[in-house]
Formats: sequence, structure tokens, C-alpha cells
Amino acid sequence: MNHPNPSPPPLEVKSVTKLFGKNETRVRALDQIDLTIKQGEFVAIMGASGSGKSTLLHVMAGLTVVDGGEVRVEGKDLATLNDTALTFFRRDRIGLVFQNFNLIPVLSARDNVKLPAADDTNLDQRTTELLTRLGLSERQHHKPDGLSGGEQQRVAIARALINDPAIILADEPTGSLDSVAGQDFCQLLNELSQDDGRTIVVVTHEPTVAMWADRVVVLQDGKSMSSFPVEKRDPQAVALGYQNALNLAQELRFS
Ligand SMILES: Nc1ncnc2c1ncn2[C@@H]1O[C@H](COP(=O)(O)OP(=O)(O)OP(=O)(O)O)[C@@H](O)[C@H]1O
Ligand SMILES: [Mg+2]
Repeated sequence: MNHPNPSPPPLEVKSVTKLFGKNETRVRALDQIDLTIKQGEFVAIMGASGSGKSTLLHVMAGLTVVDGGEVRVEGKDLATLNDTALTFFRRDRIGLVFQNFNLIPVLSARDNVKLPAADDTNLDQRTTELLTRLGLSERQHHKPDGLSGGEQQRVAIARALINDPAIILADEPTGSLDSVAGQDFCQLLNELSQDDGRTIVVVTHEPTVAMWADRVVVLQDGKSMSSFPVEKRDPQAVALGYQNALNLAQELRFS
């Protein structure tokens, strides 16, 4: 008998293509990308600017409709969900940290964090815990324009965690953080994957962030060129792995 797999992978991207623009301005942001991420895995996505990293993250979150292929989250084909179902599914299962934070300007840091909460149970306590964990308790009543870039980023991170998501997708989450705050955040992600079995995908340019991952996926021109495991938490080893992946892609192109 053919038993269905009891727990499908949290994230499956199958032959996904995403095009932007028309005619001569058409951009193939993703070109038949395949990527499967296991439960509890922590994956870093690296690649040059414009290589499709944010597009891939938005596709996995169901924020961007694909032009070809299939995206499955926890086994669910996102194309089969209507907008409402998709919104609830995303809210309940996925924590998203956007590249540009997407905070609501008229709300305080605290209210930004609470905004996407799916239920009110212990909400004040949960919010306080997250704000404290991210070092924001002193700044929680400020609005985004009264916060530094790094503080805004930490609010965005707290907001992504408010529903205790099984999957966390973060687009350059440490870009505005100083190195200490950046490493603290990586430590937090590491705990969330290792201790809680959450699945984590982080887009980053920084080897000091990618070194916390289990695996680095390297994107080039919208194609997933390769991926390599992170064997030790060493930024130089990750930088070298990244460079090797790019060189390999170059050789393949000219062979
Ligand atoms: N909404 C859009 N309309 C038109 N083109 C887009 C849109 N979003 C992305 N693109 C194009 O798709 C390609 C991939 O963009 P994407 O934002 O995914 O890159 P990225 O790897 O995240 O880059 P960065 O490191 O600069 O954030 C780029 O050529 C970009 O210009
Ligand atoms: Mg981007």
C-alpha cells in the first residue's frame, strides 16, 4: 500500500520560475529553482544583489505568485489556497522578517509586535518577553521613526516570532544590527532551530551569519547553483565555500 508521508518537508520549491516585467524589460528573477528544506533545518541563502534571494523568500511565504512550478509549505500546495486561507496559513505557520522591516509608522514598537498576533492568550506577557529578549524593553513605546535602524530591525524580528511560528523566513535580518546584536540574533535563531526544531531560512551577505546555518544555498542569476554544508562555525570557511560555489558556476558556464 502506498502510505502518504506522515510529515512532509516544511518547505518545498519545485522547478519554480518567477518573471517580472514584460518584453524587453522582462527579468527572470527565478529560473526553475528546486529547493527542499527539512524540518529543523537552518538554511542560509547567499548570492549577489539581484540574484533572486528576496524573490525566493517571498515565494516560500506565498507573498509572490509564481509563473511556473510549485511551492509547498508543510505539504500544502500554496496555489490551492485562496487569499484568505493563505493569509491565515502564513500568520499561523510562518514568521517573516522583511528586508525593509515593513513596520507600521503610527504604531509603537510594542503594538507593531502585537499586531499580527493570532490570539490574545497571554499576549501582553508574550510581547514583553520577546521585547526583553531582543533588548527592546526600554524602547517599546517609541514609534518606528524614533528608533534606530537596528532597533527597528529587532522590532521586526520580535513581530515575526509573536505567533511562535514553525517556519521563520528572514531577509537580511542582521543588515542594520551591529556585530554583537547580529551575533545575538544568530544565537537566537540557532536555539529556535536546534532546541525547538523550527525551520529557518535566512538571506544574508554575511559569512558571520551564514556560519550559524546547517547549509548554505548559493543563488546566481535566479538559479540555485549549489549548496554546501556548514561544517564548522567559521566565517572564513563559509566565505571560501561561497567563493567555490561561484567559481564552479563560472566554470560550468564556460565549459
Ligand atoms: N517587483 C519587481 N518588479 C520588477 N523586477 C523585480 C521586482 N522584484 C525583483 N525584481 C527583479 O528580480 C531580480 C531579483 O530580485 P531580488 O529582489 O529577488 O534580488 P536579491 O537577491 O534579493 O537582491 P538584494 O541582495 O539586492 O536584496 C532583480 O533583477 C530585480 O530587479
Ligand atoms: Mg533582497
